[in-house]
Amino acid sequence: QHLPALLAAMPKAELHMHIEGSLEPEMIFALAQRNGVALPYASVDALRAAYAFTDLQSFLNIYYAGASVLLTEQDFHDMAWAYLQRAAADHVVRAEIFFDPQTHTARGVPMATVINGLARACDAAHEQLGVSAALILCFLRHLSEDEALATLAEALPYRQHFIGVGLDSSEVGHPPEKFSRVFAQARAHGLHVVAHAGEEGPPDYIWQALDVLHAERIDHGVQATRDAALMQRLARERIPLTVCPLSNQKLQVFPDLRQHPLKALLDAGLCATVNSDDPAYFGGYVGDNLQAVFAASDMDANHAWQLAANSFEASFAPEADKAVWR
Ligand code: ADE
Ligand code: ZN
Repeated sequence: QHLPALLAAMPKAELHMHIEGSLEPEMIFALAQRNGVALPYASVDALRAAYAFTDLQSFLNIYYAGASVLLTEQDFHDMAWAYLQRAAADHVVRAEIFFDPQTHTARGVPMATVINGLARACDAAHEQLGVSAALILCFLRHLSEDEALATLAEALPYRQHFIGVGLDSSEVGHPPEKFSRVFAQARAHGLHVVAHAGEEGPPDYIWQALDVLHAERIDHGVQATRDAALMQRLARERIPLTVCPLSNQKLQVFPDLRQHPLKALLDAGLCATVNSDDPAYFGGYVGDNLQAVFAASDMDANHAWQLAANSFEASFAPEADKAVWR
């Protein structure tokens, strides 16, 4: 009774959300119509019916198809604004938002269109919703490092509009070390660095993200529970894990949330946080993720409080803001 209300009302930061994964089927169809883009699905219901994923790749195929309706700066703005309004309703006071520019530049959409549209929504969120929002540019790891280097160069004229870089898309077979040079360059530009690691991939990918990329946070990281030495390091160094329970369930990483390791991670002293990943595809926003993972475990109000505190500790917001939220 109390716990659901606490989870809903507590101020929180969301640190792992792909903005293209916030495109609801209704908005995909509306944008397709607005832009004259043909979709391989007859209706909103037919599209939603295709959201039955067996693993990460089966999701990514549909996620990239959905993103193909985004063409104009207004499209990118409208997508981000819809998410930020939804986040505000979940008492998100800080959102660090991933975007995948290569998904768009490969279709001929200019980098400026992508970044300016998203940045305008972030500015509006701060003014109109009281949500502090920032962007993190992700490189697609199924593409080459040279393509990532070209993408970073293309984005640097808009350096003031993003705070960091990340690494996403198909994990297995694309280890973090493949991107050592582009991450070194990003760090040299003063950008924060994070990486998806240990979602489906082995604990070794988490070690590489830390030791080769110098990642400040690990996105997902749930496979760390298979490596005791890694668990000790993550706890000792308070390296945050941005965990996404409904994503793990829908992508069959933990098909039964009762098997999810969130509680074990917290109880082992790790800085774990709860996030939505791709809320339009995985059945819910950050509030829904918290409700679902608590309903499937015996975590208590102390765990809830710890998750909120961890989300601010792990965020890249200015320390002055963090002091207020905590
Ligand atoms: N891109 C969007 N969501 C992702 C996820 N969960 N893992 C890897 N890449 C992604
Ligand atoms: Zn993700």
